[in-house]
Amino acid sequence: MEKPLLLQTLSGEKTARPPFWFMRQAGRVLPSYMALKHKYSFWQMMKNPQLGAEVTLLPVHDLGVDAAILFSDILVIPYAMGMGLDFTDEGPVFEKALVHRSHPLEGLHPDPTKLHYIYDVIDEIIRTKPSHIPLIGFCGGPLTVLCYMLEGLGRRAEFPDAIDFMFKNPAETQQLVDVICELTLEYIKGQVKHGIQVFQLFETHGALVPFEMYKALFLPMVEKVAAQCRELNIPFIYFPKGIGAGISEITPEHCDFLSIDWQTPLEVARKLVDPAIGLQGNLDPRVLLADELTISKTLEGYLDFGSKNQNWIFNLGHGFKPGIPYEKIQFMTEWLRSADWGR
Ligand code: CP3
Repeated sequence: MEKPLLLQTLSGEKTARPPFWFMRQAGRVLPSYMALKHKYSFWQMMKNPQLGAEVTLLPVHDLGVDAAILFSDILVIPYAMGMGLDFTDEGPVFEKALVHRSHPLEGLHPDPTKLHYIYDVIDEIIRTKPSHIPLIGFCGGPLTVLCYMLEGLGRRAEFPDAIDFMFKNPAETQQLVDVICELTLEYIKGQVKHGIQVFQLFETHGALVPFEMYKALFLPMVEKVAAQCRELNIPFIYFPKGIGAGISEITPEHCDFLSIDWQTPLEVARKLVDPAIGLQGNLDPRVLLADELTISKTLEGYLDFGSKNQNWIFNLGHGFKPGIPYEKIQFMTEWLRSADWGR
């Protein structure tokens, strides 16, 4: 059987078109997902292997994307440290966020067995997925996970108390990153053992601290994740959203592919990023709120880059938001499949 398109691109092979998948492709925009959401809670869907596998594969069947991404969340790591976690209409909420504790470092009990329910979901996905579709596993980046752990409020995107804590307590911040890192590395091993074929790290809140601080406190964990993936022979995509020109300091020690946000044009990113690193990205999904002509014009803007760059995965600059019309997403996927990529 031919190697899946995404894996060909990740291993540096030439392909007739760029592979595509979309961040948050399962849990925000599909009518088939919305129907399930009426019946089941997010935790139910994440914990039940049949449901978790079904949701993971919805975008493969509905949209024909070139990869599936595990249906789970980045906050399963703090949950597996004993932080009670609820997903509410206001976003994720922890029972007691760390900044509200008198001793933020105490009371965390990392327990790798509390991640086992996810391995059951992965087993079921591997059993039921089409063989030409690779499964992407993921975790949150250290800064992003720590923001939620410290402050605990999902929709307050600036995390002011968490960031103040990091400036005031660099030593404790380092210790917390180490705790997150240790469990994350264990979790990656588990995901790979159960069959994920690509790994992505979502550093969604990369813009919240100065890049020098990010480099000192958080980037070393990214390097450890990259080393872990290399040892396990799995391609690693890193998505540091909002680090701006900081992408020029990312080296092949940090990742195989770098996912670019929509603030940075791909051509500019290509000049800034080490040529040994492939790129992923970077459409703003809100383009899909416009009419089809505008969407086609925006997509045409990617043809030149795609004809010249084989080491590129088409994706969004950040995940889908609710409210993006499904028909427009279908329009985009058909466009991507049928375009003349000049290769
Ligand atoms: O397609 C997918 O949705 C794949 C699975 C997935 C989820 N979360 C499911 C989810 C992935 C890859 C994530 C990653 C994630 N989770 C990130 C990084 C990527 C990003 O979008 O920035 C972050 C920051 C989180 C934290 C998180 N979890 C937030 C802010 C929320 C609130 C609502 C939302 O949709 O973002 C969640 C809950 C969550 N995670 C839901 C889903 C489907 C919604 C649950 C619900 O409201 O029923």
